[in-house]
Amino acid sequence: MYPHTRMRRLRQAPWIRSLVAENHLKASDLIMPFFVCEGHKVVDPIVSMPGVARFSIDQLMPQVERSRDLGIKMIALFPVIDRSHKDAHGSMALDKNNIICRAIQALKARIPDIGIMADVALDPYTSHCHDGVLGCDGDVDNDETNCMLVQQALLLAESGCDAVAPSDMMDGRIGLIRRELERHGFFHTMIISYAAKYASSFYGPFREAVKSVRDCGYLDKKTYQMDYRNSAEALKEVLLDEQEGADMLIIKPGMPFLDVIHCVTQHSTLPVLAYQVSGEYAMLKHAASQGCFNYDDAMVEALTAFKRAGARGIISYAAMDVASRL
Ligand code: PBG
Repeated sequence: MYPHTRMRRLRQAPWIRSLVAENHLKASDLIMPFFVCEGHKVVDPIVSMPGVARFSIDQLMPQVERSRDLGIKMIALFPVIDRSHKDAHGSMALDKNNIICRAIQALKARIPDIGIMADVALDPYTSHCHDGVLGCDGDVDNDETNCMLVQQALLLAESGCDAVAPSDMMDGRIGLIRRELERHGFFHTMIISYAAKYASSFYGPFREAVKSVRDCGYLDKKTYQMDYRNSAEALKEVLLDEQEGADMLIIKPGMPFLDVIHCVTQHSTLPVLAYQVSGEYAMLKHAASQGCFNYDDAMVEALTAFKRAGARGIISYAAMDVASRL
């Protein structure tokens, strides 16, 4: 008891604080997301995400090279599709010349030593902006959507994608995708499942980034994404995806669901990634720009919290900012 025990002894100087620190954030923990669009020499800033832009493939290249040089091991790619190429079925998702397939091929040819993950979901490609195809009742049809997702995942693998990341929350898709990949000899293609993805307001800026707000306004995805009142349900989702053959798990959003990240890492043997989503990034950026706090300090604190909760890696739009500071 006090005074023999004084907790402040181990906090008295930077060197002792570093020595006893339980968690350390490293560049190799971070995954950097990029938005890729058509065109040449395009750098199109995303208004709601200061510091983030949509890049054409030629402009994306040096960004990815820089990420690799900073020690980042993987990037996540998201396509921005022209409205004229969207339809009710999201057919462009299955076109082998779409922007995402061309980006993967170009990146793999020039920068083979950084991993690429790509979303499996139809929302960038559908005219109604939902993650799947709609049934006659107007809701996303699970099994019809799965047929598309399986083909989309196979196409991404054929394009050279290291990891496919189903972010659609359809039931059964992990097992179906795994079976198809095996059947076609893609034994090494990883499946990083968005296992627990909540219906969240925090995706707002992302939907501006991929222009689904422009095309569809506010969208309610509550019949497929999870209810934020639940956490036992997240465990059930995780255990199913594990059994179906997922290699890694994503919990998303991050900061509002730290309890879920912690719980999942206690119950699953798979590596868990936290996704610090667009709205979390935007909140920190905007607050810092108003003088509420220092951006770098607040960001490193937020990302370290994911490691403390048990996450093995973190997807964050600040990955390059933070890696260059570390
Ligand atoms: C689409 C998808 C979304 C995000 C990643 N993939 C948005 C959504 O589900 O509406 C959100 C990422 C972010 O907000 O940073 N399947």
